[in-house]
Amino acid sequence: MAENSVKWLLLFLTCFLTISLPTSMATTSTPMKTYVIQMENSAKPESFTDHLEWYSSTVNSVLTKPETEGDTVEEAADRIIYSYGTAFHGFAVRLSEEEAEKLEDEHGVLALYPEIVYQLHTTRSPSFLRLEPESSISVWANSLDHDVVVGVLDTGIWPESPSFKDTGMAPVPKHWKGACETGRDFTKRNCNKKIVGARIFYHGYEAASGKINEHEEHKSPRDQDGHGTHTAATVAGSPVRDATLLGYAGGTARGMAPKARVAAYKVCWVGGCFSSDILSAIDQAVADGVNVLSISLGGGVSSYHLDSLSVAAFGAMEMGVFVSCSAGNGGPDPVSLTNVSPWITTVGASTMDRDFPATVQLGNGKILSGVSLYKGRRILSINKQYPLVCAGNSSSPDLNSLCLEGTLDPHVVAGKIVICDRGISPRVQKGQVVKDAGGVGMILANTAANGEELVADSHLLPTVGVGERVGKSIKHYTLTHPHPTATLAFLGTKIGIRPSPVVAAFSSRGPNLLTPEILKPDLVAPGVNILAAWTGDVGPSTLSTDRRRVKFNILSGTSMSCPHVSGVAALLKARHPDWSPAAIRSALMTTAYVHDNTNNPIRDASTGAPSNALDHGAGHINPIRALDPGLVYDMGVQDYFEFLCTQKLTPMQLKVFTKSSNLSCQHILANPGDLNYPAISAVLPDHPSKIVLTLHRTVTNIGTPISMYHAKVSPFTGATITVEPETLHFTRKYQKLSFNITFTTKSRQSKAEFGGLMWTDGVHKVRSPIVIMRLAKI
Ligand SMILES: *[C@@H]1O[C@H](CO)[C@@H](O)[C@H](O)[C@H]1NC(C)=O
Ligand SMILES: *[C@@H]1O[C@H](CO)[C@@H](O)[C@H](O)[C@H]1NC(C)=O
Ligand SMILES: *[C@@H]1O[C@H](CO)[C@@H](O)[C@H](O)[C@H]1NC(C)=O
Repeated sequence: MAENSVKWLLLFLTCFLTISLPTSMATTSTPMKTYVIQMENSAKPESFTDHLEWYSSTVNSVLTKPETEGDTVEEAADRIIYSYGTAFHGFAVRLSEEEAEKLEDEHGVLALYPEIVYQLHTTRSPSFLRLEPESSISVWANSLDHDVVVGVLDTGIWPESPSFKDTGMAPVPKHWKGACETGRDFTKRNCNKKIVGARIFYHGYEAASGKINEHEEHKSPRDQDGHGTHTAATVAGSPVRDATLLGYAGGTARGMAPKARVAAYKVCWVGGCFSSDILSAIDQAVADGVNVLSISLGGGVSSYHLDSLSVAAFGAMEMGVFVSCSAGNGGPDPVSLTNVSPWITTVGASTMDRDFPATVQLGNGKILSGVSLYKGRRILSINKQYPLVCAGNSSSPDLNSLCLEGTLDPHVVAGKIVICDRGISPRVQKGQVVKDAGGVGMILANTAANGEELVADSHLLPTVGVGERVGKSIKHYTLTHPHPTATLAFLGTKIGIRPSPVVAAFSSRGPNLLTPEILKPDLVAPGVNILAAWTGDVGPSTLSTDRRRVKFNILSGTSMSCPHVSGVAALLKARHPDWSPAAIRSALMTTAYVHDNTNNPIRDASTGAPSNALDHGAGHINPIRALDPGLVYDMGVQDYFEFLCTQKLTPMQLKVFTKSSNLSCQHILANPGDLNYPAISAVLPDHPSKIVLTLHRTVTNIGTPISMYHAKVSPFTGATITVEPETLHFTRKYQKLSFNITFTTKSRQSKAEFGGLMWTDGVHKVRSPIVIMRLAKI
């Protein structure tokens, strides 16, 4: 969420402004940066015995010669920090801007990507996990899952967590070629039959930020941050009974695929996650033999060929690896998505039916509800009232309620409950500021950006988080009453919350900036208040002043929803090893649900109104139905490549994706919207004349061999939609049948419209969301 992105953005800027090179590398006085160079490996001249030798020679030819004579070939080898060879072909190298410009023109160089710092998609807030009822565990406890390995690109792993116990697990699958890298506080014995791999990627980070200070950071797979431990356990954590955070969210904690294996690829450090490291990790993970990659981080959106994560994910997809990424925490602003490439599964976040209620009882007798994960020695008496104060002043209470460090006057807040706005700095940090100023409690009020979405945090002092409306009424009381007072009460954990799920306010929204014809996000999964394993290195609030140590923590973010989908994908892969990554995503999307537990359309937490496909994609994952989807919209490498052929890339830019394969544009797709995607986004021009748009799709029967499916389309006001043919007769398994869906505009309708296409045989319901979008200029 915004709270954290600001921090990361600052880190991002700092890294760029204060690039200080390790002196051993700085042979020239011009500043150097890391560049990832993509090479056309088939262009390697015969004279070189291996690719690395060729890369070194290529780099050598552009190096600015130092004044003193030296061995420049050796220097070139020193400048190269990675060479890549599986999902991506090329290397990462330190260069001055001038050298980089020269290198771009060298033989065999396809593309040059300056290093980018990615951010983790967490919000450090509370959340909990309860995806399936306990009774369904048997459905998931399948021995086939032992064969699936999920690679998690993150902050590393805390191997002592009970979630990574390997009791009862079969030997490591034979196809697995990964390794357990050792380092400070991490030995071979920290890997087991659950954690089958652990590797670190830091050359890009060190090149930009200087050598890792091993007193501050573990240069090993050990997770000091907690994020990587949390995401890995959400994917494939072994069941742990009586898991809880300080008494909250008690129950059995387990990952989505409790029998699957995890391999931790540590790419995120205190200074961020660097693209050259991420690329190396994806490349290595694919070579190691992962089946699924779970990537809960992102950067900005750039075009397909310039986004190295997207290019590497294309390579992974080619090797049959399912890649699931977080959509980002930029919501509720529109067009806030990251990781939008069609070969990536883009996951948004929603709530579950569990909550952590707390109340604010005002001096006037009113009781208002909120949430909290506070558990500490300082408890406020419910029989007593405490003075209440707004952190701002009466002339501008909203502007001044941010509770930033140094803004609270101890004379004003000591002994009082302080009202702060959720704002953009980390929420737990505000609690620390109030505590330091002598406050006895805090009410953290949402602003318009968060609406009524309640996220609970492990605050260091009694705190209740409240929605925007409740916040306003508390502020009104405080500013109009001569002696405002309140007390806070904590009610523990409540389940069965209705409505749920609700799309999280922070979850990034469409439309897809790069290609509006591809509907993103793909789907939503639990990402608010998720309980999962935690590092032993920091407390649940992540503040350095937090001395508490917990085995489990509650976090929120699309970082938490992505590993849910990665875990379910691992289950599907185990049961259907022949399904392509596209078939797995299709199964997840066409079986997703769009109604909540009150039978109403899933709501949007930021507005309280029904959400739409630009918020939730195909809907909320429904793992059990995804096992048997009936039909799938399948795609392979050539399909994605044909899609890229519609994206106005130059032949050179397209080569970034083809590598050594012989992919070429056959111009099969008239329109990017013709990609055989399980969602349909009809982009029409915003003018009154009648427009007819036909999109093409092909479904593969993976259900009953002889079956008949009928099409149903929800009504739209701005267009007539026809499906041709309306009935599909299948006579065998794996049979493919095509249909056309035609949009004919009827009335001028400038707003986007939403609905769905459903194919049903009476047993299976294969639903695709439909969006009709009007663009002023296309
Ligand atoms: C309230 O805050 C505003 C904005 O910081 C400031 O200009 C004003 O002087 C403050 N008023 C009082 C009464 O403190
Ligand atoms: C090139 O593509 C064709 C199909 O289009 C395939 O049969 C052939 O094996 C490919 N060749 C290589 C070298 O990949
Ligand atoms: C779909 O439309 C194309 C023309 O765009 C046509 O050639 C094809 O026969 C149609 N397919 C079906 C199943 O109607």
